[in-house]
Amino acid sequence: MFKATKIREDIYWVGALEWEERFIHGVSMPYGSTNNAYLIIDEKVVLIDTCIGSHASEVIERISDVVDPASIDIIVSNHSEKDHAGSIDAVLAVAPQAQVVTSVKGEAILRSYYGDRDYLPMRTGDTLSIGKRTLHFIQTPMVHWPDNMVTWSPYDKTLFSNDAFGQFIATSKRFDDEVDLGVVLACATKYFANILTPYVKQTAKAVEAVEGLDLDTIAPAHGVIWREHIGDIMGLYKRMCAAKPDDAAVVVYSSMYGSTQRMAAAITEAFMAQGVSVRQYDLEISDISQIMTDVFFAKYVAIGCPTHNMTVLPSMGAFLAYFKGLAPKTKDRIGISFGTYGWSDAAQREIASTFQQAGYEMPIAPFSEDWNDTPAGEQQLFDAVTGIVAKSASSER
Ligand code: FEO
Repeated sequence: MFKATKIREDIYWVGALEWEERFIHGVSMPYGSTNNAYLIIDEKVVLIDTCIGSHASEVIERISDVVDPASIDIIVSNHSEKDHAGSIDAVLAVAPQAQVVTSVKGEAILRSYYGDRDYLPMRTGDTLSIGKRTLHFIQTPMVHWPDNMVTWSPYDKTLFSNDAFGQFIATSKRFDDEVDLGVVLACATKYFANILTPYVKQTAKAVEAVEGLDLDTIAPAHGVIWREHIGDIMGLYKRMCAAKPDDAAVVVYSSMYGSTQRMAAAITEAFMAQGVSVRQYDLEISDISQIMTDVFFAKYVAIGCPTHNMTVLPSMGAFLAYFKGLAPKTKDRIGISFGTYGWSDAAQREIASTFQQAGYEMPIAPFSEDWNDTPAGEQQLFDAVTGIVAKSASSER
């Protein structure tokens, strides 16, 4: 029932469509996801990545549409995270003679999953002849784990890029020119912001390493294949690797009885009055992975919460944990902490501490009001934010 899709002469997509998946480690996937695996038919039969274990039978059935899976000679594991290496055991069960090719660090991880066997580790510059093709391997550490590598087939002008250039989207089409480019680039942006932000420097090196290759296809391990819009996805990655914020703001809050919400509104109005592009999010009803996508591009981030049990509300606790791991570590980012409290401003101090750990400048002390916000307090907050934006703008001139 599951069929392969020919993507080039003797190369087939044999991946898994995750139509029903909606989350992966904190990232929402409203369009589902695609786990890609690719089959190259040459003198050797090569499978590039194997997909998540829960879709192993789907992958093997798609392979069977082209060749007998028992004829696979080589499995290239570009990355040992289980969404790509989770079906290696299932493939080896039908092709026990297959040689597993991976990076040096990947070998250690695969041994921990699947035990000792004869792995073939590759470093940058290593090659493997499979017939008329020679595969080239390039290590791309931390894009997204220490073990990541990419595989380039100069014969096909194709880069199998694994996590790099991926998008969380399930589609019935395989190529970038067959789907809405705006949607796919938005998915790629969200993917980068939520997966690769901690590793922008390493990702920049990876982009540098691959952009000089002779390429007309980039086949990532998630989402659609790039063939018409390679310049767009490369441009997006270069922009995101620079991690330079826009003149934009994000206001994020949790509120108990509406006071912190009104403070959030005063801050949002101040940004709007200053011409700063702003988005406001109530954490109780918002997707934190979408918020972090906006945070990636925002020069100003304001986070507000009332004190509850001497800490923040549960929704804010989850957000701060996510923010700590993903906040862009570049200069010129400004944080504002705010909220109301009864007898301790613990929540606002906790938010401020999170900003400081993330390297955000905090030009004003945590803005706290006891018991309730007040019109005077809202005006004070509006003026303070106005002042921050004006000072920031003048320092840029
Ligand atoms: Fe798509 Fe790092 O796994």
